[in-house]
Amino acid sequence: MSAEVAFQTGEVILAPLAGYTHSPFRRLLRRLGADRTWTELVSAEMILQKGLEDPLCYFTEAERPLVFQLFGADPEKIFRAAERVARELRPDALDLNAGCPVRKVVSRGAGAALLKDPERLAACAQALAEAARRAGLPASVKMRLGWDKDRLEELVERLLHTGISALVLHARLAVEGFSGQARWPRLRDLVQLAAPEGLFVIGNGDIKAPEDIKRMFKETGCQAVMVGRAALRNPWIFKEYKENRLLEKPPSLRARLALELLEEMFQVFRPETACKKIKGLLAQLFKGLPGKKALLAPLLTAENCSSLIKGLQNIAGGQ
Ligand SMILES: Cc1cc2nc3c(=O)[nH]c(=O)nc-3n(C[C@H](O)[C@H](O)[C@H](O)COP(=O)(O)O)c2cc1C
Repeated sequence: MSAEVAFQTGEVILAPLAGYTHSPFRRLLRRLGADRTWTELVSAEMILQKGLEDPLCYFTEAERPLVFQLFGADPEKIFRAAERVARELRPDALDLNAGCPVRKVVSRGAGAALLKDPERLAACAQALAEAARRAGLPASVKMRLGWDKDRLEELVERLLHTGISALVLHARLAVEGFSGQARWPRLRDLVQLAAPEGLFVIGNGDIKAPEDIKRMFKETGCQAVMVGRAALRNPWIFKEYKENRLLEKPPSLRARLALELLEEMFQVFRPETACKKIKGLLAQLFKGLPGKKALLAPLLTAENCSSLIKGLQNIAGGQ
């Protein structure tokens, strides 16, 4: 399958955001205009030990096209886990995480730690791509510019012949976390490196508003754009970009959205888990609004689901 068939030029994609972009959130964002969704990172080892029952592995048809992301450091384990995911869950593509800087992940040599070891990175990508190929699916790698120094050219050179068909670049170093600014000119460089090889490039980093999506396409030439943190603060960002207008998003609308999401989360998570998870999102969703503290306080301190729901209903009923 060619990358062009799998990933469409012009797509605007919901990024994987561990803890937030679970199945109900992905469904909601597809309804709000995201062209593609992505699972958060799932451990290849965990899949081999425990199977695919974990809620992290769960998705529905309404989230498609959906890319399933794995992390690991052992090509053999990645191959076996990827084969199982491809065969039993049939996502629309498989992705290797080579960008996560969290200690729990990099201490196992996985995620962004792969950027320190280009040979291992390539072996892991090749294993994932081979499993994907056997299932007729495309494969991608989501990466950063390097660990503590920018090695983009060297890393891409290694990845070119691994069988992957797309690259997502969060244009920062792993050690930078989220500090400083994503280096969009490096996305442009990646497009120039990748295009002659037929690799599809997805740009990522610091999209804050709908006009940034337009600007990233224009300034970098990337074929698709991925939006992360901004989608938590403004889940309407995809719709705003597509309709080329900013929407009114008063607290009442945000609360209604949270109630709609919570309803679907109750189908997937235990009530306490759903309420705990949505509190994290609420802090993002109300960010920057006037009166945010007074709105949020009763929600974040709600002791049980019914008082959280009541609090949301109060806000939803207002203007
Ligand atoms: C809370 C959080 C969780 C994340 N989880 C993942 C993940 O599971 N897999 C991944 O590849 N990237 C993950 N990322 C990185 C994002 O996908 C994205 O690359 C990064 O946030 C930059 O894009 P943005 O500036 O649009 O947010 C995460 C980022 C955040 C803030």
